Amino acid sequence: MTKTANTMWGGRFSAGPDAIMEAINASISFDQRLVAQDIAGSRAHAAMLAATGIISDSDAEAIRKGLLTVLSEIEGGDFAFSAALEDIHMNVEARLKEVVGEAAGRLHTARSRNDQVAVDFRLWVRDQCDAADSALAALQRALLDQAEAGADWVMPGFTHLQVAQPVTWGHHMLAYVDMLGRDRSRFADARRRMNLSPLGAAALAGTSFPIDRHMTAQALGFDGPMTNSLDAVSDRDFALEFLGAATICAVHLSRLAEELVIWSSAQFRFVKMSDRWSTGSSIMPQKRNPDAAELIRAKIGRIFGANVALTLVMKGLPLAYSKDMQEDKEQVFDAADTLMLALAAMAGMVGDMTANTDALRAAAGTGFSTATDLADWLVSALGLPFREAHHVTGSLVALAEAQGCDLPDLTLAQMRSVHAGIRADVFDVLGVDNSVASRTSFGGTAPVRVREAVGVWRKVLG
Ligand code: ARG
Repeated sequence: MTKTANTMWGGRFSAGPDAIMEAINASISFDQRLVAQDIAGSRAHAAMLAATGIISDSDAEAIRKGLLTVLSEIEGGDFAFSAALEDIHMNVEARLKEVVGEAAGRLHTARSRNDQVAVDFRLWVRDQCDAADSALAALQRALLDQAEAGADWVMPGFTHLQVAQPVTWGHHMLAYVDMLGRDRSRFADARRRMNLSPLGAAALAGTSFPIDRHMTAQALGFDGPMTNSLDAVSDRDFALEFLGAATICAVHLSRLAEELVIWSSAQFRFVKMSDRWSTGSSIMPQKRNPDAAELIRAKIGRIFGANVALTLVMKGLPLAYSKDMQEDKEQVFDAADTLMLALAAMAGMVGDMTANTDALRAAAGTGFSTATDLADWLVSALGLPFREAHHVTGSLVALAEAQGCDLPDLTLAQMRSVHAGIRADVFDVLGVDNSVASRTSFGGTAPVRVREAVGVWRKVLG
């Protein structure tokens, strides 16, 4: 059966689309998520059309009220979306016509779906920047609570995942607080740059109607209108920047997730995940699996995937709008949903996890972790050049290894066999507490510095 032509644009068509054409063309199954933004954009547009005398005040009023009716119908869930009407823009407008009649036909004056979708999507992504900021702040607070509690809990610091030097738990938690702070500033930066309105660019060239783009921009909370109509309808940088910031954020989450997976293993036992954030095995009764951490570690695949996908959709597109750009939305929706879920799960896990301070302390002293403290002591107490101190310390480590003990377990006589000048006060620097307490340089791991940094972040996070 041949379908009838589209009522919105079918003037020059005698037949409707093939069913497969409709399937590939329609976006209503996903862009219905833009309904609130679409209606906000249309209400702003209608008010402007009246203020500039392009339509009558009574038509604008009918349109603006009718749009709210349509919004509540859609939000109430009793709305029959039509694929024949392609997308959210035409579904809303068709229903508006049923609700307010004739006046609805005047809404699309001086506008195109090209600037309409550009403004809708920009508003949606802008909201996601705000949501990401709140979710990141919540995770920062959970990490900050951990940092404050464990400002002086010693644990091993790693390089190459080999024990390097003792650090404090609080310092390790604060490393992620800093990282997430950069994520927040990336979302804020992207938000600032995207906060210009494409509305009024019309199809691509602007319009001959005396519209006021500043008015609609202001009504929608933008800093002003975009300055070039061709760019306004064909720009998706805002979505790419959101995905870029989301990707880097997901990298950070994956690193923390990986540490939690390692730390909660029987080999490390650094942390215990709460029951709320662990799962069991259907066959191995002893198991407590950190599934949420593993899934967060994996979510980067979807988020970075979306970033790659949209980058490739945009690559090589001639100006201005092309239908390719309809492929922008699903990727961004999925990436945003995924990021928000991962952030919420991470905040929950971090808030609930318990550090095993005994295991942390025991591990902190292994692997000759205070060898650098010993070398530094040889420099400051005995005046050795650092290179020589490094060599002497290496010999002492080899000696301890041969004896099957740690550095503080060597006797003074054994130490002196390597370097005659070594004195008994060397033992003061070989303990892990002393080691961390000594690292008071700005940004260092000493508890006093950690507490300062916690204080600074408390003020920022409120
Ligand atoms: N559904 C379309 C999209 O998401 C809206 C814009 C359609 N514009 C057009 N010229 N067909 O991109």
